[in-house]
Amino acid sequence: MGAFNTSDFLKQVEEQRSNERALAWEGTFGDYLDLVAKQPKIADLAHARLYNMIMSGGVRENADATHDYNFFLDDLYGLERTLRQLVDEYLNPASRRLDIRKRILMFVGPVGGGKSTLVTLIKRGMEKYSKTDEGGSYAIKGCPMHEDPLHLIPEDLRADFKRSLGVYIEGALCPVCQYRLDHEWGSNINNVPVQRIMLSERTRIGIGTFKPADPKSQDVAELTGSVNISALTEYGQESDPRAYNFDGELNIANRGIMEFIEMLKAEKRFLYELNTVAGEQTIKASRFALIYCDVAVIAHTNEYEYNSYFSNKENEAMIDRIFVVRVPYNLRVSEEVRIYEKLIGQSDVQDMTQGAELDLSRIHIAPYTLKVASMFAILTRLKQSKKSGLTLMIKMKLYDGEKQADWDQRQVRELHEEFSDEGMNGVSPRYIINRISTALVKGGKTYVTPIDMLRALRDGITEYTSHDEERRRLLGLIDEVRKEFDETAKKEVQRAFVYSYEESAKTLMDNFIDNVEAYCNKEKVKHPVTGEDVEPDERLMRSIEEQIGVTENQKKEFREGIMRSVASLMRRGQTFSVSSDERLKEAIEKKLFTDLKDVVKITTSSKTPDDVQLKKVNEVVDRMCKEQGYTMDSANELLRYVGTLLNR
Ligand SMILES: Nc1ncnc2c1ncn2[C@@H]1O[C@H](COP(=O)(O)OP(=O)(O)O)[C@@H](O)[C@H]1O
Ligand SMILES: [Mg+2]
Repeated sequence: MGAFNTSDFLKQVEEQRSNERALAWEGTFGDYLDLVAKQPKIADLAHARLYNMIMSGGVRENADATHDYNFFLDDLYGLERTLRQLVDEYLNPASRRLDIRKRILMFVGPVGGGKSTLVTLIKRGMEKYSKTDEGGSYAIKGCPMHEDPLHLIPEDLRADFKRSLGVYIEGALCPVCQYRLDHEWGSNINNVPVQRIMLSERTRIGIGTFKPADPKSQDVAELTGSVNISALTEYGQESDPRAYNFDGELNIANRGIMEFIEMLKAEKRFLYELNTVAGEQTIKASRFALIYCDVAVIAHTNEYEYNSYFSNKENEAMIDRIFVVRVPYNLRVSEEVRIYEKLIGQSDVQDMTQGAELDLSRIHIAPYTLKVASMFAILTRLKQSKKSGLTLMIKMKLYDGEKQADWDQRQVRELHEEFSDEGMNGVSPRYIINRISTALVKGGKTYVTPIDMLRALRDGITEYTSHDEERRRLLGLIDEVRKEFDETAKKEVQRAFVYSYEESAKTLMDNFIDNVEAYCNKEKVKHPVTGEDVEPDERLMRSIEEQIGVTENQKKEFREGIMRSVASLMRRGQTFSVSSDERLKEAIEKKLFTDLKDVVKITTSSKTPDDVQLKKVNEVVDRMCKEQGYTMDSANELLRYVGTLLNR
């Protein structure tokens, strides 16, 4: 982060304020009609506005003929199928006023699978969109429900209006505006002031939220508004709109969206109101006729409540009015890693460590740490396919887009269809982040490695489940992940050791050829350090030849063969290289890898490494730090780990 600059910051704040001032618009109803004539979209209903908002982010066409909505891509990972269903099967038809818009949109999914994040994204999106040119919204000034000015147009003129401007008008004036039209504005609709509105959850414009709480203290008024007692004494009548506060969550959500958190935990009377507003676009406030309300109702609930509610026959009528979109856990390893990275980057991770002084974003997380956690998480969510030979591990890799022998990406769709509830169970991203935090707090470390991660996952299992069978299943999955990681770890270290692989291979081969030549010609070689003439290095030659099974009896023939190809290449003006002879190449590669094992072993054994070995190890650690993303600590830990693997 750069240094904070107060004056730049204040400038930014000022800029934002002036942008908002520039957006402000006020006029008469007549002025507003001119705007509508120019840009009929500003008169869209809530669902259309929501759909247009998402579409304004653009659509990405994928190579596999699917498409994704850019609006979600920066924040939600691995939920493409869910999001396509949301937009294609619900929002799109709802925006065209098909009957589906009368159903409550309900996200159902496991805890921590992104439902709240999705709804929040939509809310923030609506706020921002209402500040754009194409997303502008207008309302009768002073209306507590910021209602659509077109409600001023009498019923019998609406068909004409639709014919000439293509704008469909739905709904009647709210009691407050009706009263003011009659008493303040002399029944002249052109006297009615109109203003542009910015949707905002904070200022309660076009975005309402409701969360069931203790039913004793929670009143339906929270949704539909209530009588204003002090105004009532002044105006005398409960049916006087001036004596009523139209400030329930549903009232203020008019023109936008209503979020209903944990919907199925709510009592019937709340669900009833919700159902009416979604199904009939009306709110019933006591003493008043039905009040029109244009809102997209978005509810969410967890899997458990959903199952018990939907299996109860008594709820049939309500169930009919709900459109369910499942929000399962992400099932792709690489996307899961992105989720962790996002969570770690957010400060709220700190809160999850229960007060411990720990900021994960400042801690070194060694390469593959998040990946092993992610693999475990995904494996807990997957279901075993009936296809023979398709292990969970293969399935996991296929889902992540990796090629697997005998299986290919075209089968992924088929696999998704095998279970409708895959991803509705398993561990959540938050659980994993909690495990990382716990591991760090417990170990008092300043960095975390895949090995710590696997240990932390294992330690957490008893707490996670009390079922023996489930515990065994999870332990088995951790073992699978560990096996995968062991392979990765070896390769990772190998990569650091034979970084200058080409060079090491060439040096080793030149050395070998020099010795072989001397051997075949019964000559001596120069010692590389002292420069003295010495016998060919039999041990070196054998250590290479043994790699490919050349026996003591065959060595002479093998060496002469090599010299013949060196000579024949030379006659053609070419030089012998590592790849000139397949068998020799294999021998050299194997020899290099054996050397690697030896060095790694030595670094992890109790023996003190000699200077050459020490230098090599330091080089390797250095390279792992500079090029592979490790720190001294995490690199050394990995070396020790790989050492124990190789010592087995
Ligand atoms: N598929 C996902 N993509 C991005 N973030 C996710 C995903 N699933 C979960 N998260 C993150 O995990 C955390 C918990 O998700 P949340 O939206 O609160 O879940 P829910 O409301 O379903 O319980 C959030 O910070 C969210 O951003
Ligand atoms: Mg939630």
